[in-house]
Amino acid sequence: MKSVVNIDDLRKVAKKRLPKICYDYIEGGADDELGLITNEQAFRQMRIVPRYLVDVSLRDQSTTLFDRTYSSPIGIAPTGLADLFRRSADLMLAQAARDANVPFIMSGASSSSIEDLGKLSPDHGWYQLYSANDPSISEDMIKRASDAGLETLVFTVDVPGNSNRERNIRNGWQRPTWKSKFEALRHPAWMMEWLQYGTPYFGNWTRYAGPNASAKAVADLLASQFSAPMTWKHVERYRELWKGNLVLKGIMHPDDAVRAHSLGVDGVMVSNHGARQLDNAPSPLEVLPTICQAVGDRMTVMLDGGIRRGLHALIALCMGAKFVFQGRPTLYGVTAGGVAGAAKALAIFRREIDIGMAQIGANKISDLGPQFLMSSNEQQLYRTGR
Ligand SMILES: Cc1cc2nc3c(=O)[nH]c(=O)nc-3n(C[C@H](O)[C@H](O)[C@H](O)COP(=O)(O)O)c2cc1C
Repeated sequence: MKSVVNIDDLRKVAKKRLPKICYDYIEGGADDELGLITNEQAFRQMRIVPRYLVDVSLRDQSTTLFDRTYSSPIGIAPTGLADLFRRSADLMLAQAARDANVPFIMSGASSSSIEDLGKLSPDHGWYQLYSANDPSISEDMIKRASDAGLETLVFTVDVPGNSNRERNIRNGWQRPTWKSKFEALRHPAWMMEWLQYGTPYFGNWTRYAGPNASAKAVADLLASQFSAPMTWKHVERYRELWKGNLVLKGIMHPDDAVRAHSLGVDGVMVSNHGARQLDNAPSPLEVLPTICQAVGDRMTVMLDGGIRRGLHALIALCMGAKFVFQGRPTLYGVTAGGVAGAAKALAIFRREIDIGMAQIGANKISDLGPQFLMSSNEQQLYRTGR
């Protein structure tokens, strides 16, 4: 870990620890995995123009979101099955977020429970809801999140059905191939945990699978709860039930953001699920400006997908996002080094954001805006010399 300088270094350490089947699960996208490239390219193509001769000695990256002030404008997006990569990873991520004073979103497919999160860090923990076929399950989860003292509920809307993740098919995600099993033997630290603790449970779902249900029975229950259509009626119902901040995650069209606002939703997370659902979807950064234009002054617009550098976060904030999240980087961190690894990922972002602010001449997050960005038209003019 000492040699880790950036997020890609953390990725490499995580890759070493994990069997290929697990690493591919984290890393993979849908179909041809063009979306992974699209998400990262969108940031690479942006140009941020520095302003010099500004006193940047008092830089402060703290950011207020839903009436809470966080130390940095970047939080941890929900990632399911994290305990498969390191035991208690959900709570380690929550702890790292709490210590860094940034939000952590617990996945609807986590191993630890809402109640565990409420005990550890109610002020920084948000809960991400996957809508269940049986409405009483979703409604109970909403009540549990409220009883646990959480303030923000994130309803993920971009999983209308299973996506085509071919790495998982090849590795035998549902029933690991012999090749995958033998390959796992080459990762002894991971293997020891697996032998010690067995298959991780979906901690929030156990109580709905009956007493003494096995991890597999709970996983089957969760899978069986994913087939019913999910519509705006669900948003209306969850809005009725949830008194705290309600966020829709996975919004990619301005009209959907407008509709969300009309139903009383407080925020949208512009996201394509880390390019894991629809391969030819645009990157969240590409659609961010139209969504900000449509609702940016009326609701909180956030973004995730492809952020690997502090500058990427700054670019999204300049383009109108109020806050950004990342998924894989802290997952690499927690896999590589537990709480310290997740903390390292957050510290890398924090440091890079700070350096970036100094480089462009910004002292506060509220200083950021489109004035720092070179438009694609301007870029074209420079390239062609016209
Ligand atoms: C391994 C993994 C599991 C994920 N699980 C969930 C999940 O349970 N719920 C959800 O809303 N999004 C999930 N996501 C998507 C993330 O919340 C987030 O949108 C995405 O990771 C952002 O892209 P990035 O990884 O490039 O930062 C998952 C992503 C990964 C990589």
